[in-house]
Amino acid sequence: MSPKPILVTCGLPYANGPCHIGHLRTYVPADIFVRSLRKMGEDVLFVCGSDAHGTPIVVNAESQGIAPTELVARYHDHFDNVFRGMEIEFDHFGSTDGEVNHHRTQEIVKALMEGGHVYPKVIELAYCPHCERFLPDRYVEGICPYCGVAARGDECDQGCGRHLEPGEIKEAVCKVCGGKAEYREQTHYFFSLSKFQDFLLEYLETLGGTASARNYAAEWVRQELKDWCITRNMNWGVKFPGREGLVVYVWVDAPIGYIAFTEEWCNAHGARWEDYWKGDSSIIHFIGGDIVYHHCIFWPAMLKGAGYSLPTAVVASGMLKIDDKKFSKSRGYVVWVEDDYLEKGLDPDLLRYYLSSYTSHTKEVNFAWRIFAEKVNSELVGALGNFLNRAFTFTVKNFGGKVPDGEIDPEVIARIEQAVIEAEANLREYEFKKAADGIMSLADYGNTYFQGHEPWKLIKSDLDAAGSAVRSSLQVGKALIILMQPFMPGVMEKAWGQLGLDGTAAASRFSDATVPLEPGHEMGRPKILFKRMEEETIAELEAIFQKRISEAESREGKCKEEKMETIPYEDFMAIDLRVGEIAAAEGIKGSEKLLKLTVDIGEEKRQIVAGIAKDYSPADLVGIQVIVVANLEPAKLFGVESQGMLLAADVDGKALLLHPEKRVEPGTRVR
Ligand code: MF3
Ligand code: ZN
Repeated sequence: MSPKPILVTCGLPYANGPCHIGHLRTYVPADIFVRSLRKMGEDVLFVCGSDAHGTPIVVNAESQGIAPTELVARYHDHFDNVFRGMEIEFDHFGSTDGEVNHHRTQEIVKALMEGGHVYPKVIELAYCPHCERFLPDRYVEGICPYCGVAARGDECDQGCGRHLEPGEIKEAVCKVCGGKAEYREQTHYFFSLSKFQDFLLEYLETLGGTASARNYAAEWVRQELKDWCITRNMNWGVKFPGREGLVVYVWVDAPIGYIAFTEEWCNAHGARWEDYWKGDSSIIHFIGGDIVYHHCIFWPAMLKGAGYSLPTAVVASGMLKIDDKKFSKSRGYVVWVEDDYLEKGLDPDLLRYYLSSYTSHTKEVNFAWRIFAEKVNSELVGALGNFLNRAFTFTVKNFGGKVPDGEIDPEVIARIEQAVIEAEANLREYEFKKAADGIMSLADYGNTYFQGHEPWKLIKSDLDAAGSAVRSSLQVGKALIILMQPFMPGVMEKAWGQLGLDGTAAASRFSDATVPLEPGHEMGRPKILFKRMEEETIAELEAIFQKRISEAESREGKCKEEKMETIPYEDFMAIDLRVGEIAAAEGIKGSEKLLKLTVDIGEEKRQIVAGIAKDYSPADLVGIQVIVVANLEPAKLFGVESQGMLLAADVDGKALLLHPEKRVEPGTRVR
């Protein structure tokens, strides 16, 4: 046991969409870890909360026509419910938009400024003259300055994968109005991450948790650390102290949520948050493998700079695949925890067991309903459930439901002791699979022991020996329940009741596993603990999943379906496509759909009537480059002559104009 208080946290889910089983890869093992530590007598606090800020949430709320607070509240409640449903029991589940986090974030930013770790710098930022605003992160798209591929404002998601700092994106386009952005100067604030290089290299050597997190981080630190811009032009977020119109970057106030949630819990329970964050404590972060940089580099540097305690361990989970395919919401490779699992009446314990015992914590887990059913049927029904049920019902039938007299086999006690030692060591090292396998091998041992001693025969010849074999088997049962409780709290609590024990499985300690069951102790009523997954159920679950994939495919492949006849190459080459630049645009009287455009195509200007009035306002269009069909027969629309046509993607009837990837000379040929 450690005398220090332990704080365990989980990466905060964005309150921006429902919980899927990819999330659970972090939360379930963290919950198992916390329950296990408590069974070893440790003093543990377990907190998490919603990540409420950042541009994607504002963009999503705007597109749904609701306020960000409403969107956040909706998903906050959703996650809270799903976590309860999955028996993931945080002591506190807060929100980064809570008052305490606003306050703590400002305190930390001020401390960093006072410590000289934040400096102002004038940078050139994307600004939309039409929307009259600066365009932070997801409000802007353009070209990645490193690899030249189309990128989002904060991340080159389709090219080199780099994180992009404000102002870095080239050829910025406003995501709100689609218009071309310009670059304007503004003062922003930077966190001097680069100054923390030596500190981080030393710190990372002592950092606990999974080796992968530590090693990746050390490698990045050795290469180069860039200072981080920690301010954004937005209203939604934590106000940057002393500057109107700026909030702190979401990756500043999100991890500070860990502190704020500790404060909130401590305030409600008469405890001191400083014991965790200013004193000698163990701070253990469970996170997804994709946010190692933030937790092993940015976050410790910030804590160090502001004078707070540092994380002791960062535990990063591996990825999740669905049916051997990369997890992808848009392609349908996703399993929603609420809709696809809990609401189907499936027991949370089964999924907890799957996710924690499939492979080691840092490796990739593959989820498929077939494998799920196979694991449930062979390991939980066949081995664990079978053993417990067999030992329990035998006692009820042959010993009147009372633990029989007879010595507990010393070999059995030794075997249990060994299992407990192994489980504790594995759990402390985040080796959840090894721990689960070890416990399952104790179940196998129990099965073999029971089978080998044949109490059903002994009972006729040697009652004492039969009693000893059964009491020993029940003792294995008790140990299994205690050891498995962190993995499957619901089912193990039922088993605890069937064994007729006092208190709860939840409150038991691992050390209780060897405390002998007293002869004469009265059992409860045995019932089947795990039900077989039947073929029909599996087929049903698979069908839902397959349907989602084919729907996604048909969404993506819709354009491909509208196949047309082939044309000869010459026919295509006969179309004169040119890059044009819109010089002027205005509405046409009497038409809701049409705009009259003047388009510069190099040697001449063309008047083009385009059916895009519903999708673009004239002011947005001026200066934009488009693709023009330059040799189309002129036609009259609403009495206005059109001398060409613009190319646009037809997105469910909405026109999206095509642009060259970079600005080029008007008149440039397109082929
Ligand atoms: N919301 C982030 C994500 O899902 C995680 C935030 S973790 C915290 O990637 F450290 F910032 F809190
Ligand atoms: Zn705009």
